[in-house]
Amino acid sequence: MCGIVGVLGNHEVAPILVEALKRLEYRGYDSAGIATVNSGTLSRRRAVGKLVNLSDLLVHEPLAGKSGIGHTRWATHGAPTVTNAHPHRAGCVAVVHNGIIENFKDLRAELGAAGIDFETDTDTETVALLCEHYIREGLSPTEAAQKTVGRLHGAFALAFLFEGEDDLMIAARKGSPLAIGHGDSEMFVGSDALALAPFTDQITYLEEGDFAILTRNSLQIFDSKGNLANREKRKIALEAARVDKGGHKHFMAKEIAEQPVAIDRALRAYLGSEDGRQLPEDLDFTTVDRLTMVACGTGYYACLVAKYWFEQIAKMPVEVDVASEFRYREPPVSPNTMGLFVSQSGETADTLAALRYMEGKAAQIVGLVNVQESSIARESDVVLPLHAGPEISVASTKAFTCQLVILLMMALKAAQQRGHPLPDGLPEDLRALPGLIHQCLSLDAQIKDAARDLAKAQDIIFLGRGVLYPLALEGALKLKELSYIHAEGYASGELKHGPIALIDEKVPVVVMAPRDALFEKTVSNMQEVMARGGKVILVTDAEGARVAGDGTHEIITMPQVPDALAPILYAVPAQQIAYYTAIAKGTDVDQPRNLAKSVTVE
Ligand code: F6R
Repeated sequence: MCGIVGVLGNHEVAPILVEALKRLEYRGYDSAGIATVNSGTLSRRRAVGKLVNLSDLLVHEPLAGKSGIGHTRWATHGAPTVTNAHPHRAGCVAVVHNGIIENFKDLRAELGAAGIDFETDTDTETVALLCEHYIREGLSPTEAAQKTVGRLHGAFALAFLFEGEDDLMIAARKGSPLAIGHGDSEMFVGSDALALAPFTDQITYLEEGDFAILTRNSLQIFDSKGNLANREKRKIALEAARVDKGGHKHFMAKEIAEQPVAIDRALRAYLGSEDGRQLPEDLDFTTVDRLTMVACGTGYYACLVAKYWFEQIAKMPVEVDVASEFRYREPPVSPNTMGLFVSQSGETADTLAALRYMEGKAAQIVGLVNVQESSIARESDVVLPLHAGPEISVASTKAFTCQLVILLMMALKAAQQRGHPLPDGLPEDLRALPGLIHQCLSLDAQIKDAARDLAKAQDIIFLGRGVLYPLALEGALKLKELSYIHAEGYASGELKHGPIALIDEKVPVVVMAPRDALFEKTVSNMQEVMARGGKVILVTDAEGARVAGDGTHEIITMPQVPDALAPILYAVPAQQIAYYTAIAKGTDVDQPRNLAKSVTVE
């Protein structure tokens, strides 16, 4: 979490830093700050809350200088106050940090014993103080930063700026991503390349343990052993540079609407088309007898859906786990296991740690990621990019549906390789998905009506059965994170084992039920809800509405879809219900409270 940026530029740097931070705000928005060096003088400005508060502050209290660092914070140690906001400063040193310094208490005790006082509750201030301490002892800024970084445990991406040094910046990476951008006699640092896209498309990604010394005209990178390292400079795709709302009110609305195009891109990349592109050949399901899928949040629910597909279609045993639990269980990993890690950002700390746990134990590590340069992509044996395009809204939408589409294609490939027949109509029906998603998008008027009611509720329950059960979980997650209304997803058959006690006329129940083989059973569970006064919003197709619509409070009528594709399509109303309920409640759709897009801490 947190986004960091640094610029050694040829123009006034404050607006450039703010522009770059705008593109990193998805990583946290509890506070923001910048520091600059102007003719040797180091100064900083910081503000609590969204970046706009910092921009406003800079209007009244501008900051001059052509070198600077900036930060947008998701609070870990210390409340979101101005004092705790980055950049942290100790004398001649300013530091911005993404990650957690695990041994900061020990370092703090050591500095405290040397008579050094602290202003903040943060782990990052310790880094600035330690570096300044080494400078006072006689080291140069570069030597002091190097010695400081060597003392840190934990996960970090850091950028240092120094008083009296207009043409020097230090960057270091361990566990948190960091990109260096090359300009024309300018250098940039950013938590991701997207932040730097308006300024340069020439990017060098730092690797684990790298320490970089930047001036406007030079970049020296040392690896974790202190050897000079040669890291590739790459041109990043222009697509990554486009992060506007495209006429929509929110990034989330844009990203929901982009799903037909995103899914079409994923299909073209993997389904096999005129240009022969398909799932990578080295994705081998013949040498493995078990699949272990690990992810967090929405990615985890995509894995839960895929479990049904791999088991039913490819007859493969599948284990799915949330990444934060996986490695602490210390599960035995047989060498015939494929490890599949699903992550939009490719940087989620728990998922990455789970991947590292399986490295060397499993037959193959496969990464399904949206950010192609991410750590999970780099550490996987086989990488499948989602091709969803940049996802800016904190709540994941198009990445989820692209994950589902690719996971289904993988299950089909596994079935083929393992000699099992494919379900009727697949994979051909997949080609209809973009058009079907398009039809689902036009249901938003109906959903807006339902959402006005939902916004008045204090608790909402989502129900689904079979492959729609994980969609009930996803619908509930999306709704609670965006509207702050308490919501739970249940397998509809599980309701009578406890949760039915919650049902009364004040608790709306959203039932996701396409007319599939389990429809009658879901409808029985829905009747049990209605018999207890529960207000049902039924999401089904026209036939389902005809058979089971009586007595429901609201029906959202979906197109008729092949059974296997239902979870992909029913994701759209789940997203729209959350979106429009949040709009009705007036919450911050793209940046819900307490959250961040990229969760790079455990
Ligand atoms: C919910 C959401 C989160 C993420 C989770 C994992 O809308 O977006 O639950 O799915 O934080 O993130 P990634 O996929 O980047 O690993």
